[in-house]
Formats: sequence, C-alpha cells, structure tokens
Amino acid sequence: MSELINKANMRDTEISVSILSADLLHLQDELEELKKAGADQLHFDVMDGQFVPNISFGLPVLQAVSKQTDLFLDVHLMIQNPLRYIENFANAGADLITFHLESADDPFQVIPEIRKCHCKAGISIKPGTPAKALLPFLDLIDVILVMTVEPGFGGQSYLHDMTEKIREIYSMIQDRDLRNVRIEVDGGIDSETAPEALQAGADILVSGSYLFRQNDMKSAMLTLKNS
Ligand code: DX5
Ligand code: ZN
Repeated sequence: MSELINKANMRDTEISVSILSADLLHLQDELEELKKAGADQLHFDVMDGQFVPNISFGLPVLQAVSKQTDLFLDVHLMIQNPLRYIENFANAGADLITFHLESADDPFQVIPEIRKCHCKAGISIKPGTPAKALLPFLDLIDVILVMTVEPGFGGQSYLHDMTEKIREIYSMIQDRDLRNVRIEVDGGIDSETAPEALQAGADILVSGSYLFRQNDMKSAMLTLKNS
C-alpha cells in the first residue's frame, strides 16, 4: 500500500472535467470558468444510444469546443463502432481518443487508427470487464479509463468494488514497467471517493456532477487533486 501512496504523491493528479454536467446553453462561459478553476483536461462523453442507453453530443459540439479552448480534449467514445469515427473525432480536435474494449470493433485495428491520426490512445473497460482483459493492449496505449459506474449517465454513485480493479491495473502496469501508461477513473468521483481511487493508483480523475454542483469550483478541484 505504501508504494501505491508514493505513486500518488510522485505523479501529479490531473482532473478531467466532464462537460456532460455543464450548462450546454452557456458552454463558452463554462469553459472559461473551468480553465480559471484549474481544470487540466476536458472530458467529452460521446454516447450513441446503442453502446449505452443514452445519447449525448458529438462532432459539431467537439469542433466548437476545440475552437474555444486550449485545454487538452479527452474524448470518451461510448459508441458501438468506434473505428468508423476516429478520423472525424481527431479532425474535430480530440487530443486523446478512448474507446471501449467491449465495443464491436477490433482494438488491434482501432488503436493504430488513433495513432495514425496523431492522437493519444485510450481503452476503457466497463465495471463487468476484468482487468486482465487489458493485458494484450497494455504496451500499445497511453491511457486506461476505468469505469467506476455503468457508462451512460452522469451523477451515479461510485462502485466501490472497482477500487480493487484499479489496484490490479496499477500492478499490471508496474509489472511491465510501463510508466507512461496512465490510469484514468470515471464515474462518481467526489471528495469522498477521490482519495480511494488515487490510493489505488489513479492518475487522472474524471469529475462531472460533483464539480458542477460546487459554488467554488477552484477549491473543489483542489480538494480532488490533493485528496
Ligand atoms: C458516464 C460518463 C462519465 C460521467 C461522469 O458514462 O462516462 O464521464 O460524465 O460524471 P459524474 O462525475 O457525474 O459521475
Ligand atoms: Zn466518461
């Protein structure tokens, strides 16, 4: 455990703010506020109504956002056929494209397509998918996005059973000495659950509903980062 805590201390925690919970009619103001409050990344949840039972936003919104901000754009594709759309999301401004291991397309095709488009590559797994399913891809990716809720909706509660999975993924990365692979945790992150995820080995925390509920977003962001 002390090794895990050391890691959390050594590497800066980053916050990727999920704009799913933002006021979409005032997105420009929201983006400026997030930047001032110290957000490191913007988390952009794309849902297709097939891979997940919800539909969010897509390419035109990403394009508009990327024109308005210089924040790192972390795109989380919750779509059934990611391969078809990688180039479009890259052209719309994505810096990191994360797709789901459970989606229909072959990860060995999707990852090189992301690289070809000069983006960082991430793989996400749903709560029911075991950590070991990631083993064949660990050397090929930059980010592992661990879902700590069932994907599809913001505002759900963190699934505490997932903390052990974060720990397992952290060990897998250490065993292969893949220091550049970062663990991102998505779903139900707040001041109570952030320390749990960070101690297990998370580097990047996604936060939506918790941050947008706060009056003082800057101090809430610091609370998450320093947990
Ligand atoms: C859920 C999304 C999350 C969500 C996180 O499918 O992937 O990124 O927006 O929202 P909170 O922080 O409210 O759980
Ligand atoms: Zn997400």
